[in-house]
Amino acid sequence: MQTKITKLFGIEHPIIQGGMHYVGYAELASAVSNAGGLGMITALTQKTPADLANEIARCRDMTDKPFGVNVTFLPTVNAPDYPAIIDAIIKGGVKVVETAGNNPVEVLPILKEHGIKVIHKCTAVRHALKAQKIGCDAVSVDGFECGGHPGEDDIPNMILLPRAADELEIPFVSSGGQADARSLIASLAMGAEGMNMGTRFIATQEAPVHQNVKEAIVAASELDTRLVMRPLRNTERVLTNSAVERLLDKERELGANLKFEDIIEEVAGVYPRIMKEGDMEAGAWSCGMVAGLINDIPTCKELIDRIMHEAEAITARLQKIGNA
Ligand SMILES: Cc1cc2nc3c(=O)[nH]c(=O)nc-3n(C[C@H](O)[C@H](O)[C@H](O)COP(=O)(O)O)c2cc1C
Repeated sequence: MQTKITKLFGIEHPIIQGGMHYVGYAELASAVSNAGGLGMITALTQKTPADLANEIARCRDMTDKPFGVNVTFLPTVNAPDYPAIIDAIIKGGVKVVETAGNNPVEVLPILKEHGIKVIHKCTAVRHALKAQKIGCDAVSVDGFECGGHPGEDDIPNMILLPRAADELEIPFVSSGGQADARSLIASLAMGAEGMNMGTRFIATQEAPVHQNVKEAIVAASELDTRLVMRPLRNTERVLTNSAVERLLDKERELGANLKFEDIIEEVAGVYPRIMKEGDMEAGAWSCGMVAGLINDIPTCKELIDRIMHEAEAITARLQKIGNA
């Protein structure tokens, strides 16, 4: 299937694996890219820019297909060394960067200078328009359903995607709640040129996370995610567990007085304990409502082949309806 997104990134199928903290390592990114999608290494999971350079080199050893690096711009005081991160990306010969968080206006000129395509992930049409204005090549439109940070507007993809289609000139992919061929065809119908998946790619053979994480996603239903940190205007959709329920109790008790320090135990430094050690009660970790649609742990190739194969069957069915 050829779309503006496959052409832009030089990939076979319009399927992207979004950057994921402690999940987006070379193993997953290369598996997605080898299967014809676009895999993504997550820059901030690497402790130093030198580690990122090493991860990019590892990924290159595992695939000769295009892959990208996710760079999340955090609104923190102690910012990571972004210039060194960008340098590692450029020197590593990476040709696609997925940005998220704050918009990438400061790094765009240098990325463009090196022929790197930039897809910015955003949760609002106004942010997508800003990304277009500053020169991003594409956007990932992340609906309220998504795992991770859905923003504060709470607009689901059934509305957000057609709104994006009405306003944007650059190509965009759907993100949030995407799992299968139905997601892909619906996204295309709403004007997207492909889809980005996070949670679905965690429950794959190659995702280098503890088996408990994959099984938790398979066991979860669409009712099992919660929104945390809303009072801090840093809303995150996570899978519920005892730590998350404790965190929500604190939010209810403290109301508008809640500070980050109050919930530090439930959110800070929990990713390695969950993703590596499989301690599923350690704290809050991002997970999308789409968990309700995930019932197996295929290889990335099985998953992507199945999506593309079933997409053909859906297209044929829609054509039949059209001709009836
Ligand atoms: C465990 C996990 C970690 C994530 N970490 C990041 C991250 O570090 N940076 C980022 O831009 N997005 C991150 N995301 C968001 C994904 O890239 C993607 O936008 C989102 O998962 C899409 O929603 P879905 O889970 O419904 O597919 C994360 C998502 C998950 C599930």
